[in-house]
Amino acid sequence: KDGYDLVVVANRLPVDFSVSPTGDLTWQRSPGGLVTALEPVMREADGAWVGWSGAPDLAHEPFDADGVRLVPVTLSADEIERYYEGFSNDTLWPLYHDVIAPPTYHRQWWDAYRRVNQRFADAAAEQAAQDATVWVHDYQLQLVPRMLRDLRPDLRIGFFDHIPFPPVELFGQLPWRRQIVDGLLGADVIGFQRNGDAANFVRAVRRLTDYATRGPVITMPDAEGRPGRHVRAQAFPISIDSRRFDELARTPEVQNRAKEIRADLGNPETVYLGVDRLDYTKGIRHRIKSYGELLEDGRLDVTRATLVQVASPSRENVGAYQDLREHVEILVGRINGEFGELGHSAIHYLHHSYPPEEMAALYLAADVMLVTALRDGMNLVAKEYVAARSDERGVLVLSEFTGAADELSPGPLLVNPHDIDGMKDIIVAAAAMDPKEQRRRMRRLRRKIMTDDVAKWSESFLSVLYAVQPPVSAEP
Ligand code: G6P
Repeated sequence: KDGYDLVVVANRLPVDFSVSPTGDLTWQRSPGGLVTALEPVMREADGAWVGWSGAPDLAHEPFDADGVRLVPVTLSADEIERYYEGFSNDTLWPLYHDVIAPPTYHRQWWDAYRRVNQRFADAAAEQAAQDATVWVHDYQLQLVPRMLRDLRPDLRIGFFDHIPFPPVELFGQLPWRRQIVDGLLGADVIGFQRNGDAANFVRAVRRLTDYATRGPVITMPDAEGRPGRHVRAQAFPISIDSRRFDELARTPEVQNRAKEIRADLGNPETVYLGVDRLDYTKGIRHRIKSYGELLEDGRLDVTRATLVQVASPSRENVGAYQDLREHVEILVGRINGEFGELGHSAIHYLHHSYPPEEMAALYLAADVMLVTALRDGMNLVAKEYVAARSDERGVLVLSEFTGAADELSPGPLLVNPHDIDGMKDIIVAAAAMDPKEQRRRMRRLRRKIMTDDVAKWSESFLSVLYAVQPPVSAEP
């Protein structure tokens, strides 16, 4: 066997490793969205998945998991610090999310990013069959397309950016902006969440290179400087496994659990829900501040309304995340201390992650879902909430600054999370919306989300990628 026909390259493998009581290394499937999206295509196409094992110095031979070849990439503690926590999550992440937190620029981090990207590219090149297709994912691996093309000119290469691509006025801060653009342009197709992200990328190409662009197509010069291969930059908004959430939320177990959650909360009139990774891009502080002011103004009553905020632990070694946790926990503590009563907490703050069953029950238990991100590539929580609500009840409050808002409007109540007064009005209005209006909006949202699911997303990306002419160099 000369290799795999479809190779996915992502920072994380779709499994978690752990050490068993007997000291053996074992693994469990991790329920990420990307896995469910790609699993059917991977199985059909004879696929391999290249990704980090998730812990320092953890080495493991490639192995088969439910019909997919998994190929672990090993990172040292030092590489995790510089490539993952440093360059990926303390440089690129804040820069690509409108510099909500200040990005840090460190040359040593960049060196590690390049080195680790090369390791992923080498592993992918080793797994891919002749003329195979390789699909590279996200901001952690933007140099891989170019590195891979240099190693293997026979491959078809796709890249999908799961997060926003910033305007060139911000992207231009990056000392290595040109290398990143050239890294991405190693791909044949570069996918983004929104049209605006694709347009930002094409503007960056125009500003930082002299490559010819025509609409979404960039023409690369060949070795003699003549027009060579084309690169297409286009939006492919990602989605969720909608049917799975819909079905999960219809099970008696989940429905009973939803009732139990409401009862545990004291059966208030209104349950507000926030579900986020504990990340400064998610607008958690703005949301909680608005909620606290509503209690203070007497427009919300702690005996009649409650906010459940699930904040799942994330990137806990990065300073900005530690600061955020401090701020959120102080704020929640202050609001609960001030407005809570025995038996009535203002805010139920949960620093945990939960399995999909519990998430579905929480979605069903919530009258109002608050998604108030300051910037978000897509926001899948908004889509999960809709998919869970086959009862056509519930109100989605959605930030304008999410990819989901581009796709789902009209249907959600849109908010600008920077406008605290505006957000307060919408939080109150959402709970007061009459059931007929709720149904009208939820139906419209569900029509969209139940059809545009994640399988459709991967099919549409891959069909554009498969339509690319095979590279000339691959011909005998
Ligand atoms: C975002 C990124 C993903 C990332 C996920 C979780 O959704 O787009 O690439 O995997 O956050 O973050 P983590 O750093 O834990 O992988």
